Amino acid sequence: MKALILSGGKGTRLRPITYSMAKQLVPVANKPVLFFGLEAVQEAGIREVGIIVGETAAEIEKAVGTGERWGLQVTYIPQLEPLGLAHAVLTAEPFIGESPFVMYLGDNIVKAGIAVLADEFRREQPNSMILLAEVPNPQDFGVAELQGDRVARLEEKPAQPRSNLALVGVYMFDKHIFEAARAIKPSQRNELEITDAIQYLIDQGYDVRSHQVTNWWKDTGSLDAILEANRLVLEDLETDLQGAIENCDLHGRVAIGKGSIARNSVIRGPVVIGENCELENCYIGPFTAIGDGASLKNCEVEYSILLEGSRIEQIESRIEHSLLGKNVMVQKSDSRPRALRLMLGDSSSLTIP
Ligand code: DAU
Repeated sequence: MKALILSGGKGTRLRPITYSMAKQLVPVANKPVLFFGLEAVQEAGIREVGIIVGETAAEIEKAVGTGERWGLQVTYIPQLEPLGLAHAVLTAEPFIGESPFVMYLGDNIVKAGIAVLADEFRREQPNSMILLAEVPNPQDFGVAELQGDRVARLEEKPAQPRSNLALVGVYMFDKHIFEAARAIKPSQRNELEITDAIQYLIDQGYDVRSHQVTNWWKDTGSLDAILEANRLVLEDLETDLQGAIENCDLHGRVAIGKGSIARNSVIRGPVVIGENCELENCYIGPFTAIGDGASLKNCEVEYSILLEGSRIEQIESRIEHSLLGKNVMVQKSDSRPRALRLMLGDSSSLTIP
């Protein structure tokens, strides 16, 4: 069995962060989202992995390399334009050949992994297996309608969903998916939808099975979703104090990387702090992930993700529910006139109390 991980696309819902980085490399609990997928594939006993890459190919290749770190053999498959998930499948046909494969969307995290499912797929050899999860906002996903155990109908982001069962971004296929992807037409958003390709398999009488996820799953494509994924992953954080701690109150599980120092601060876990960070007179609240080389002074941060090199100084309001890109600087100034001085990239968002 092979794996196809999709790491192309544009990441418009995570702008401005995704103007300068691939959405699959945005860190969750200080680990790029894409690495969760690579680990899941590795745990499922798969070795040959194709990664679909688009305009952020160089960055993805730099982060993943040969895949050796995970014991994987990675082949990069350029997709010239993000014309849909089924288009990505067709692009990967020479790599997949006749092998059954798992397709894993590079911005998804599935807590329970995919090992059990991959085993079942290998053993029972249906034509396809899909994963479903109950969600409060089915209109934002592919939606499945079941009749008993059978998948009766699938619809991509329907305005009026017929159920609250979303398609999770993990799919198992045999070679018939290529026939299906060739048979369908582009959707209204001009993409070849994998949802339509699976519907084709159902309509042609192929064996398409479904499973509901037993634990949590997250598509990290939006701000709310990535913060929630960060929270869920940090729920399993273990204490690991490698940096220095001077005169701090630590509560709950906290991880601090090498070369970091925290002084006169209150840290309420779960919190992960990377390497070579400096914290002074801070409150760091639960579900916060701080990237390498960040510097925080006289500020409060909670339920947030700060990428590497962020600097926050002398901010009285607590910063929460926030995602700060690399080397972002937030600071107080006493100079006159008293005014907000901003340099925000396109599609930035700022909420002031
Ligand atoms: O996350 C689950 C959802 O993923 C499913 O419920 C939907 O049925 C499915 O269509 C998909 O919806 P999204 O709109 O969230 O897909 P997105 O455009 O975010 O693409 C998912 C991943 O695939 C992402 O890592 C980017 C990559 N991609 C996307 C396209 C359209 C490619 O590599 N190539 C592409 O052409």
